Formats: sequence, C-alpha cells, structure tokens
Amino acid sequence: MILGAGQAPGKVILFGEHAVVYGRPALAVPISQVAANAQVESGAPGSGLIIEAIDLAHCFTLAQAPDGDPLAAAVHLALAHLGLEAPDWRLTVHSTIPIASGLGSGAAVSAAIMRALAHAAGQELLPETLSALVYEVEVLYHGTPSGVDNTVIAHGRPVYFVRGHAPQVFPIGRPFRLAIADSGIGSLTKVTVGDVRLGWQRSPERFEKLFDDIGQIVEAARAAIASGEPDRLGPLMDANHELLVEMGVSCPQLDRLVAAARSAGAGGAKLSGGGRGGNMIALVSAETAGPVAEALREAGAVRVIVTPVGEYGRGPTLIHQPGR
Ligand code: MEV
Repeated sequence: MILGAGQAPGKVILFGEHAVVYGRPALAVPISQVAANAQVESGAPGSGLIIEAIDLAHCFTLAQAPDGDPLAAAVHLALAHLGLEAPDWRLTVHSTIPIASGLGSGAAVSAAIMRALAHAAGQELLPETLSALVYEVEVLYHGTPSGVDNTVIAHGRPVYFVRGHAPQVFPIGRPFRLAIADSGIGSLTKVTVGDVRLGWQRSPERFEKLFDDIGQIVEAARAAIASGEPDRLGPLMDANHELLVEMGVSCPQLDRLVAAARSAGAGGAKLSGGGRGGNMIALVSAETAGPVAEALREAGAVRVIVTPVGEYGRGPTLIHQPGR
C-alpha cells in the first residue's frame, strides 16, 4: 500500500554561481521538466526501512546502508525531524535529473525523499524546514554550499538568494525562454567550489573583484527581469560567463556550447551551476529556440531542454528562512 509520495524539481542558476558562496547574490529558478520522485509503501513486518534507488539499481536497508550514502543521510535526517524510528517501509527513489550536471540533482533527491517520508508519517514539512534539512545533507556531500540549491528546490519558486539572508521570490515582469544544454561531462560541484576557494586563498583581491563584478551583473539582471525586459539578459549572461571563465570553472566543451548558442541566434549564453561540465543556459525566443537547440546538439550537447521562465502561479515575495 502506498503511504506517501514526494516530488522536487531541478533548478538552474541564472546568474551568480560561485560568487554566491562568498556572500554575493544569485538568481535561480526551478525547472520542472526534470524532477526527483520518491514513494513510500508499507513493507513486510520486521523488514526495517528499505531504500531502493531505481536509477542506480541500489537496494539496501537503512540499517545496512553503505557508509556515507547520501540517500540514507537524507532518510536519517528526515526520520529524526519527524520523530520516527525506522518503520517497516519501502522507499523507492527515481530521478530524471542528470547527476553532477548543475541541475540540483542531489538537493532534489533529498527533498523528494523527505517529502515522501513526511507524507507517509502524516506530517507537513514547510518549505523553509525542508530547505534547512536538505542543506544539512548538502553540507555533508558538497563541502561549503551556499544554500541556493536547497532553497530554490524546496520552495519551487524563482529565488534571489544571498547567503545568510531570507531568500526572496523575484518578480518576473515578462516570461522568457531558456535553452538548457547538457555538456554530458559529469562534474562535482564540490571540486569546482574547492578549486575556486584555493584560487581565492592564493589571489584574494583578484577573486573578490570577480565576485563583485558578478554581484553587479546579478543586480542588473534582477532589475531587467522585474521590469519585463528579458532581452537585456543576453549581454549580462555573456559577461557572467566570461567572469566564470576567468575564475577557471569553464571547460572547452562548455565554451563550445556557449559559442554555438550565440552563433545560432541566442541572446546570450553562460555555463550554469558548478561548471567544468554539467549544463549551460542560453537565452532564446520562440523563433531562435529551434535553431539554437539544433546547434547545441550539433556542438555535442547530450540533451537540450527548452523551458519558459516566469510562468509560475502567484506566491509570496519573501520566503522566511529561520536560523541561517
Ligand atoms: C551550485 O549549484 C552553485 C554553486 O554556486 C555552489 C553553491 O552555491 O553552493 C557553484
């Protein structure tokens, strides 16, 4: 019998990745074309809590989880929060969000698991509580995360995020379109974030300047989005990409995809997320979406998603997030 289910979307960072770890703002949006899903069913008496990760062909009991398993960590945190010992449940997890691609796969899987367990327990997890719990898993596996991924995924809203501050839903004056292309190269955020930290420790002034310049781009982008002038985003994306190149987190394949998108008519393009692989985003219109997607595939993208940004329901403009 199904006792509970949970879902969480992927995300893209529009502007501000890496600099956001150092206190500058970032803009991120949920992407519902890819998602993580979890389901809880009743198990046989005495079975304990069984975790089945369908995509990874993994199945184990919580008591015998492999050391450091992130799914088990999410389950432990959720059960502790819900005040439960491991019940005789079977938790199945399935995700269409590519792993290590900058689309928030880890945070989304944790969020879906926690939602499903709360649902099965008949309890509600408020988005800010869910975000804080997912952040704890992110800290275990990603070193020094800013908190942007768990925030946008738990709230499922476009977020203007500054570390340590209550995140805000940013207004979108006019919806716009993005092409999101996967370079096919897996890249761990932990590694690129660690390398940026090394660079910052070696050349603090240079990196602080890069972070400041990115912060200004984020503010300009936020204003353009709010005033319904998304065309202004293209040059800002290009400028943000160049700063990420200078920071050392791009790679030849991402640069190739960015160049291909621009040549095919995109308004601008940049890598998105941790970089050195994973995804890039390009600003497209109804007319350029097709040719840009085609050019990205020809340039080696393993997957291209074209998605509208800004077609969400109405919601709060300030997300309360206690204790951070
Ligand atoms: C990863 O999606 C975004 C980074 O800025 C890391 C973080 O914010 O934790 C690269």
